[in-house]
Amino acid sequence: MIDAPFSRRTFLLGATACLTAGAGALSVRAEAPAPLAFRSRRTAYAFGADGGSGESTEADGAMTEGLVSFLDNAPPPIIRLRQNTPALLQITNGLEEYTTIHWHGIRLPNAMDGVPYLTQLPMAQDETFTYAFTPPDAGTFWYHPHCMTLDQMAFGLTGLLIVDEPEDLGFDDEVALNLKDFRLDAEGQLLPAFTPKGAARAGTLGALRTANWAVAPTVPVPTGGLVRLRIAATDTTRIYRLILPGLEGRVIAWDGHPVREAVAWPSEEAPLVLGPGQRVDLAVRLPASEGVEVTVTDFGGARRTPLATLRTVGSPTKRDLRDLARLTPANLAEPDLAGAQTMEFVFGWTPDGNGQNNGFCGAYGYTFWSINRTPWAGDAEAAIAPLAELKLGKSYILRLRNESPNAHPIHLHGLAFLPIASNQRTLPKNWTDTLMLLKGETVEIALVADNPGDWAFHCHIIEHQKTGLAGFIRVT
Ligand code: C2O
Ligand code: CU
Repeated sequence: MIDAPFSRRTFLLGATACLTAGAGALSVRAEAPAPLAFRSRRTAYAFGADGGSGESTEADGAMTEGLVSFLDNAPPPIIRLRQNTPALLQITNGLEEYTTIHWHGIRLPNAMDGVPYLTQLPMAQDETFTYAFTPPDAGTFWYHPHCMTLDQMAFGLTGLLIVDEPEDLGFDDEVALNLKDFRLDAEGQLLPAFTPKGAARAGTLGALRTANWAVAPTVPVPTGGLVRLRIAATDTTRIYRLILPGLEGRVIAWDGHPVREAVAWPSEEAPLVLGPGQRVDLAVRLPASEGVEVTVTDFGGARRTPLATLRTVGSPTKRDLRDLARLTPANLAEPDLAGAQTMEFVFGWTPDGNGQNNGFCGAYGYTFWSINRTPWAGDAEAAIAPLAELKLGKSYILRLRNESPNAHPIHLHGLAFLPIASNQRTLPKNWTDTLMLLKGETVEIALVADNPGDWAFHCHIIEHQKTGLAGFIRVT
């Protein structure tokens, strides 16, 4: 087994600790999850091809100050949990500003969802909040702040949350890529996370492209081996178009759930489009000779950006994709399409630009966007009404209409949904929590409202979210 640099910072979590109460023969054994503690902090980091270090080196360039992570001089760790195993995540806010943490894609109790004012109060400096939940789905998820969302995410606090299935699928190794850009000036220091011009259009892009905070890193992988490649787009803005030239494989999971309809292997004709918030799991077989490189590439037509390179090392093993066990299908309730009620949502401009906000979670003084003509810019508007009220256990079709000339990755908290129809393309009916709604597109999604609570529903281009393209759906 190769020790990939990206698994070194992996935390193996979710173990249960045996607590012994009493003594001697009458002791009672209770199982309780061991809490995993994280503290957000400002940190410095030198971006380079090998990933960061605490020092500035010639190869790595300048130290960038003011990044946000759970670790010093390193990207946020991969948190690993086990499916159907209780977890306690104890988060302390080490920042001077407020925060909360949201567990993107996890179906959890509403009070653990990390949305300020809606599900909890923002955490002030040095406050601790313990998130307790049992992840019901195995797959690739992630975490990020949901208060001061734009600055804290743009400056680094986006980490992978991997929920392991109990069974061994037969991979030789795993590589996880957290794709995220940074906006830096000529001295390597952070630029403001957004521009009003960007926020009113497609968003403000960063120019430094990274995978796990490294610039086009090379990751060793076993020659001829089978690798599970998890890719997460955690950038606040960028929509990735991925190709993997020279690599054989298949898409096994989409946005945290095993695929049930095939997703085409990416090609230049049809790259794999991953919008902010989305994840994909690929089963890949590496080339059978040592020293061969394959590059995960963002394909923008004439422009190709290498994001990470897999390089085969060691004597070849002869593996075949057919050696892998299949993922167990997600345990999700099938929507009853015939009996479902349809609800309409329109994503577009906001009628009046009111950028006011009465909370602690960041407002930018602009409102450009809305859902159903209602902007929700600041996480904190008092007495804002839900966009829709769903009855617990009932099936719904949500018709999402994009009347804007920009694409929006639309994310729903707490529930998984199926895309069932589009006026522009054929969408594989795979469970998701984040759907790329294309320019001018109308997509119907279906779900069973089986998780009670107030669930945030917003664009995951965070500048759009923070300038109005947000709301929530109530399930009671
Ligand atoms: Cu990934 Cu409302 O968030
Ligand atoms: Cu958007």
